[in-house]
Amino acid sequence: MAKLLLRPYRIKERCAVLVPKVKKFVGRIIEEHQQNGGSTKLSDDADFVDVMLSLEGEEKMEKDDMIAVLWEMIFRGTDTTALLTEWVMAELVLNQDIQGKLQRELDVVAGSKNIKDADIANLPYLQAVVKETLRVHPPGPLLSWARLSTSDVQLSNGMIIPSNTTAMVNMWHITHDPKVWEEPLVFKPERFVESDGGANVDVRGSDLRLAPFGAGRRVCPGKNLGLVTVNLWVAKLVQNFNWVADQEHPVDFSEVLKLSCEMKHPLIAQATPRNIVASF
Ligand code: HEM
Repeated sequence: MAKLLLRPYRIKERCAVLVPKVKKFVGRIIEEHQQNGGSTKLSDDADFVDVMLSLEGEEKMEKDDMIAVLWEMIFRGTDTTALLTEWVMAELVLNQDIQGKLQRELDVVAGSKNIKDADIANLPYLQAVVKETLRVHPPGPLLSWARLSTSDVQLSNGMIIPSNTTAMVNMWHITHDPKVWEEPLVFKPERFVESDGGANVDVRGSDLRLAPFGAGRRVCPGKNLGLVTVNLWVAKLVQNFNWVADQEHPVDFSEVLKLSCEMKHPLIAQATPRNIVASF
């Protein structure tokens, strides 16, 4: 009897087409760096690829390994940061009062100057807006795909996860749990502004009420880069433009889980340039 193979997504075939494209694309980045003198001597503006190329002796990396590392960074770091920025902007479009409050903070702290990543430390409301978006719309709602328990684990509620169980952490549920967060469905950055009586929550894995980058040994290695990038993009977008909803495309918070949790209907908004009034 003929064996019927059900392969609705044709994963193997699609990967076989994708992998050579990835190798070519990422390989070109490495070759460009080599041509630009990637060597053992690192200059002040050396980037990550230069550092990999500079490794010697036991640390020396083969090109295929460099490709794998770079691809992992592009693959894990691109859509997460872009999607988080999109969710932040969607919340700001819908919550004009919060957008206005953020603009006032940016005007006071930065005025019309070109905001740099070093300025973010002085923008607590901006950081609170990004944290609140990570809470309401965590890009990785289930953290990693799966974990395998290597021994029996007893949870604080008495439940036992037996050894060799495939388990997933539902971070989305934790960040929307009314036992953990007051009014969890309300977008309220103030809950993270300490000077307003808000909580001091580190989102980088030490506080499990909000760990959108995971925690422990497999925590996201790009968490600091991701946070700085999103804070900076949002700061620049909101410093320089007013954002309002598009009449024909109202903001729709429906979610769809692909590699990351995306807006099912991508944000369409109208931006008008601002006259920045520095109010020092
Ligand atoms: C807002 C941005 C980001 C979010 C929300 C995010 C979230 C996550 C999450 C939830 C995980 C899984 C953690 C776990 O298994 O417990 C992860 C893993 C990972 N992330 Fe990110 N990430 C972001 C940005 C980045 C950036 C910018 C990079 C690299 C440039 C990056 C590289 C990685 C890598 C390589 C892993 C796999 C780590 C491992 O399996 O050991 N991520 N990230």
